[in-house]
Amino acid sequence: MAYSDIFVKFYDSIMGNQVVVAKKIESWISESFPKVKTILDLACGTGSILYYFDQKGFKVCGLDISKEMIASARKKVPNASLSIQDMRYFKLDTKFDVILCLFDSINHLLSIKDWEMTFNTSFNHLNKDGVFIFDINTQYALSFLVESSPISRKFENNTFIIQVSEKPTNIYNWNITISEKQKDGSHKNNKDIIQETSFPLLIIEEKLKKRFKKVKLIDQNGNTTSEKSRRVYFICLK
Ligand SMILES: C[S@@+](CC[C@H](N)C(=O)[O-])C[C@H]1O[C@@H](n2cnc3c(N)ncnc32)[C@H](O)[C@@H]1O
Repeated sequence: MAYSDIFVKFYDSIMGNQVVVAKKIESWISESFPKVKTILDLACGTGSILYYFDQKGFKVCGLDISKEMIASARKKVPNASLSIQDMRYFKLDTKFDVILCLFDSINHLLSIKDWEMTFNTSFNHLNKDGVFIFDINTQYALSFLVESSPISRKFENNTFIIQVSEKPTNIYNWNITISEKQKDGSHKNNKDIIQETSFPLLIIEEKLKKRFKKVKLIDQNGNTTSEKSRRVYFICLK
């Protein structure tokens, strides 16, 4: 699913630099997989995670379906090897120690078959004992957002508003409005819709266990998951 140009332009101002997430991933990697040298980030967006790991001396590679996202990542991380590809069936002529797919990027794939395709392609691009780490918005999180008031945030002189609705069942539409201040002081509203879905944790885990020898689930606070976990990280060992 393509993000609009305006969303790509303001993505970093809205989402921040992802350092907290990158540090969390780094601590998991350094505790359990200290020999890691190469990292591939699927759906890398503007490249914030790649930037962090590049600065730490890892060899980094990224891909995203959006050419605007990749152009932005290219500026941020000139050392990274980047390509415009679909995470479901990307092809790279090298294998990696770690493959990441973060910030609920996999939720953008709207069928479990698409998720499985991504699991397979990632598995095939991992070195032996390599690890695939991705996070999801859970079904609980998405339903919670539907019930919640719209989220509104000011950034620079602009405003960002998100309201999530569900239609059809289990397809969640993120209705995004970016109200951008113009030179004459007026505001222009830019609208975008991003779709996400999710699946029960048990089903995702079962699909992963058919492929990976070990699968661990952790919630956003580093605890074991519960039915009220909103973001869950899957750490999958080849
Ligand atoms: C929420 S953003 C996350 C970006 C980045 N991972 C981060 O942490 O900031 C989701 C990203 O997924 C990308 N994306 C959506 N569908 C994709 C697909 N099928 N293959 C590759 N990238 C995809 C979008 O272009 C966007 O950059």
